[in-house]
Amino acid sequence: MSLFQPGQLGELELANRLVMAPLGRARSDERSREPLPRVATYYSQRASAGLIVSEATHVAAESVSRPGGSAIHDDAQVEAWKPVTAAVHAEGGRIFQQLFHLGRKAHQSRTPNHQLPVAPSAIAARGEVATPDGQQPFPVPRALALEEVAQRVEDFRRAARNAGQAGFDGVEIHAANGYLIDQFLRDGANQRSDAYGGSVEKRARFLLEIVDAAIDELGASRVGVRVSPHFRVDGIDDSDPAALYAYVADQLQARGIAYLHLIEPDSTPANERLAPDLRQRFKGAFILAAEFDRDSAIRAIAEGRADFIAFGRLFIANPDLVERFRRQAPLNTPDEASFYVGGDHGYIDYPFLGETQFHAERAATGEPA
Ligand SMILES: Cc1cc2nc3c(=O)[nH]c(=O)nc-3n(C[C@H](O)[C@H](O)[C@H](O)COP(=O)(O)O)c2cc1C
Repeated sequence: MSLFQPGQLGELELANRLVMAPLGRARSDERSREPLPRVATYYSQRASAGLIVSEATHVAAESVSRPGGSAIHDDAQVEAWKPVTAAVHAEGGRIFQQLFHLGRKAHQSRTPNHQLPVAPSAIAARGEVATPDGQQPFPVPRALALEEVAQRVEDFRRAARNAGQAGFDGVEIHAANGYLIDQFLRDGANQRSDAYGGSVEKRARFLLEIVDAAIDELGASRVGVRVSPHFRVDGIDDSDPAALYAYVADQLQARGIAYLHLIEPDSTPANERLAPDLRQRFKGAFILAAEFDRDSAIRAIAEGRADFIAFGRLFIANPDLVERFRRQAPLNTPDEASFYVGGDHGYIDYPFLGETQFHAERAATGEPA
């Protein structure tokens, strides 16, 4: 199997095995959280990826932090996403929307009525969050009451329905990187003693109810899930990740969703890797992400370790990454300073291959590029 061959994901045949990883880029309208026209340009430039997974998109008004993040909980936002999905489809691409809720990683300086962020338990994330008054420690969140958990499941249901209406090919449930679903999954952040905390089965319940809601709205073949067992930087942790994610993979397999997307850095030591076990348990499309380059991705696909490889930073800097990989062409370098700053620069002005060569040739002859 080759990175450049078509691959099956749910009922979709994707043109190749490169996935553009979800990347929050803070380029939406700061108040309405609607994607601006540049967002359609950005994604359509990258439509040659087999699949684009959109930036993490907020499912509720209470999920709010850095300005410029996008959302999909109201009708105007649905309308604003339509030109984005249409632009990708016009280029022959496919795009799923990643759906998330910040949970304890929101901040009361930005939430409606300055309410405390919500989480499974009143345990603060480690680290700091950007607020209008500068960097502040993450707040101690308010633990959701049992009857309030169902409303957050409904938030994801509405977002999945909205994503379908906005023209997305499916949704990716963001159960990774320390956000609300991840907070429920891991016992470092979830110390509940009700139906949503305690055993692995109870901690996974929130995720699985959300997956079931998304399946109700869109069908299992249009739903994927992203997990990050190795993510610990904000203090989120689990006492037995192998058991937790094995159970999650089994449950997702039972539901027949389109794909499981595992963030497992390519440098992960062999004895800590969960991919081999999870891939055996989950028979749908398997996406691996983090730290891959052309050669390691080709190897992972050839060895059958994954069906698709997701690239994050390389897709930021190389809209035509697929073509560059095919031709073994040089790559643009991602400019970290412009990852989250808003505006077009560092977003839609990375050169395509021909343009790079043009600039390089001009530079070689001493002409201004
Ligand atoms: C600017 C930036 C924004 C990101 N935003 C998201 C996001 O919205 N959702 C998500 O699941 N991961 C997000 N990630 C993580 C990437 O999807 C990816 O897992 C990570 O960059 C590692 O892959 P790479 O080595 O190919 O860059 C982000 C990463 C970067 C650099």
